[in-house]
Amino acid sequence: MSLIIQAITAIFFAAVGLFVYAIFGHSMMGWLDKGPEPIPIEEIQRRIAEKESDLDRVEGGVHLETGLIAAEGWETVRATCTACHSAKLVTQNKATRDGWKTMIVWMQETQGLWDLGDKEAEILDYLAANYAPEESSRRANLDMDAIEWYILDL
Ligand code: HEC
Repeated sequence: MSLIIQAITAIFFAAVGLFVYAIFGHSMMGWLDKGPEPIPIEEIQRRIAEKESDLDRVEGGVHLETGLIAAEGWETVRATCTACHSAKLVTQNKATRDGWKTMIVWMQETQGLWDLGDKEAEILDYLAANYAPEESSRRANLDMDAIEWYILDL
């Protein structure tokens, strides 16, 4: 008899133990498991510097970090035109020299761009030469008046 009671008591405590483990086990194990060692800040800085210097070079005529075409004057453009925004705003646009001038004036009047002084000519030369409008690859719109319409006879 007492053996049966002992067995039931053992099963009871085992069940309670399992129950407690199921609910609190995860957080209890957290005390033991401190997780991976944190990476020291110097190591993180070293990795970032390595990555940046890796992209700060010209390959195939393009500066990898900014995407600017590495033609004459590009370093002036990089220094001036990436102070407030990404170089993408430059590289994704195309315009004539006048068009670029208009954008620069717009930024000066509304976005706090400073007077570019004698750098302006160099910057405009670079932009006009490397980011000029291209002919569109799209077919031109049809000239509706020039079309000779006819009834399709089936
Ligand atoms: C003083 C800060 C500043 C500097 C420096 C600056 N820009 Fe901007 N530029 C802006 C702001 C702000 C916008 C608007 C961004 C937006 O709409 O998200 C902008 C927008 C542009 C646009 C998009 C215009 C459009 O119509 O969509 C182009 C292109 C551009 N900049 C080119 C340049 C060039 C080229 C230079 C270097 C000569 C330059 N930026 C330097 C502030 C600046």
